Amino acid sequence: MFSATLKRTSLALALSGFIAGSAYAAPEVLADFHQEMGDCSTCHVSKKGPTDDNLTHENQQCTSCHGTMDDMAAQDAEKKLKVSPHKSHLIGEIACTSCHKGHEKSVAYCDACHSFDFDLPFAGKWERKFVPIDVNKDAQEKAIAAGPRDTTDVVIVGSGGAGLAAAVSAHNNGAKVILLEKEPVAGGNTKLAAGGMNAAETQFQAKLGIKDKVSTMIDDTMKGGRNINDPALVKELAQNSSDSIDWLTSMGADMSDIGRMGGASVNRSHRPTGGAGVGAHVAQVLYNAAVKSGADIRLNSRVVRILEDAAGNVTGVLVEGKYTGYYVIKSKAVIMATGGFGKNNDRVAKYDPALKGFAATNHPGATGDGLDVALAAGADTRDLKYIQAHPTWSPVGGVMVTEAVRGNGAILVNREGKRFVNEITTRDKASAAILKQTGASAFLVFDDSVRKSLKKIENYIHLGIVTEGKTVKELAEKMNMPVPALEKTIASYNGFVKTGKDTEFARPNLPRDLVSAPYYAIEVKPAVHHSMGGLKIDTKAEVMNKKGSTIKGLFAAGEATGGVHGANRLGGNAISDIVTFGRIAGKSAAEFVKAK
Ligand code: FAD
Ligand code: SIN
Repeated sequence: MFSATLKRTSLALALSGFIAGSAYAAPEVLADFHQEMGDCSTCHVSKKGPTDDNLTHENQQCTSCHGTMDDMAAQDAEKKLKVSPHKSHLIGEIACTSCHKGHEKSVAYCDACHSFDFDLPFAGKWERKFVPIDVNKDAQEKAIAAGPRDTTDVVIVGSGGAGLAAAVSAHNNGAKVILLEKEPVAGGNTKLAAGGMNAAETQFQAKLGIKDKVSTMIDDTMKGGRNINDPALVKELAQNSSDSIDWLTSMGADMSDIGRMGGASVNRSHRPTGGAGVGAHVAQVLYNAAVKSGADIRLNSRVVRILEDAAGNVTGVLVEGKYTGYYVIKSKAVIMATGGFGKNNDRVAKYDPALKGFAATNHPGATGDGLDVALAAGADTRDLKYIQAHPTWSPVGGVMVTEAVRGNGAILVNREGKRFVNEITTRDKASAAILKQTGASAFLVFDDSVRKSLKKIENYIHLGIVTEGKTVKELAEKMNMPVPALEKTIASYNGFVKTGKDTEFARPNLPRDLVSAPYYAIEVKPAVHHSMGGLKIDTKAEVMNKKGSTIKGLFAAGEATGGVHGANRLGGNAISDIVTFGRIAGKSAAEFVKAK
């Protein structure tokens, strides 16, 4: 093994030879390059290659030479990079190998969502083809015949909020957990969540004098979901929502700021102080708690099959380790927390052809293979055709702009400089209205007081997707909008704020007038956002089969399931869903194991 100093020297020598182009042929991938420094053991434990799918040893070798992510981020700051690729909203300890690959072209993971132009050495561009779960049948059967490599009480599939909440809850109820995540980073869509988590009758609402009721949250959720939601699941969601906020708070989360989301009768969307993004925070808190609880978290580990005995009881899972191959984990219970399928447009278009070709707000792992795995185990599904488009996705930055911007006072205007909808209506209605405007997009327009009210807006400014004008006139000119029309629109909106009544579109919340320069605009259009449908579950998060009974030992929670949100989810209800039903699934699975 090289010492760190020797490695650094060798790296410098190799680099200089590479740059001079004399002594070395141009390497194709990082491994070719590092080979100049020694043999396979420079990166791997031995010539056999990686020994675990987290690439623990390999990542230690990276940091022993190059420094930690914090060291790299400090170097980026010295270089005055606008965006540091080593500092992000991704959760957990981000492995170097998430982006820097050894034996294939490297790819910046953030390029899956953002349109950054990082100069990553030996890199290709982001592309990903969906790989069906049943490829390599022979290798799969061989792994099953070889018997289990590991045994545990509960296997959890997916490291988003539902999976992590389930891991903590299963542990708290006495179960040993292995959590499997197919991506190289943890957190799924959860780490992207922006606007907030809905909860009613909370300590934080009480402190702010907000009067809310569990029954109002139920009514709002049913109405938003066009009343096809499973009422029992909605009741469970709303009744447990305040307790879920307290549970997160007890683990160190800050959920004290509250804003308004579309379709809610009152402010109940909880988020960190100052309106910072909710998802990365909640996911990080849950991740830390899961690690502390001793959960064995394995990345780059895709579950491709649920194993059952002849009587249909779950006996474990078949895992496809990206580096260690197929293997079996034996367990008495499995929790599917595999999220939605928004990033798989073929699947989206199969269920809703109107969304063919749409961009998505989702993380790259939202492909729906978890659904395939559960279906193969006999699970029933519901409402798969209901797929939500989020109205405000930025085509420039490739990121979703949170509904909280509208909740805190932004208006939506079209290219003619006019408002056209109640900005905080439900998403189905807002998206449909935007698609009807010239160019099938619109502009979020707000002033400096809205900016100051919501920390999340600084991220959009940082990403360069916001246009700024010192006056409304300058903003309109920059956006190519008729100046008098935009001035009139803002003046009449400010009039509505003054009287407390929007006589044009009946917007129910009018938090502030738009009078504080500078003014800002972001172009937005709808993008695929949420899979409302999914696995059929009962209130204990047990998965139902097609005969209407439960599959013994199979549980599910979060966006992988259907029924909570009906035909249209309200903003802020998904984080509530994953925390509450993640907790329920973890507890139910642990109790099931105990009773066996
Ligand atoms: P995810 O967090 O998506 O996690 C599922 C995980 O399972 C993924 O990491 C995936 O890679 C993994 N996985 C899938 N299949 C397999 C397999 N076969 N083997 C192993 N691993 C697998 N909701 C709100 O309530 N409030 C918000 O403010 C909000 N903002 C959002 C912003 C954005 C940009 C997006 C995309 C969504 C937002 N949502 C919000 C929705 C919400 O974030 C998600 O619905 C929720 O986080 C889903 O959580 P989950 O745990 O069910 O799934
Ligand atoms: C957003 O912040 O607009 C997204 C919220 C959600 O999907 O619930």
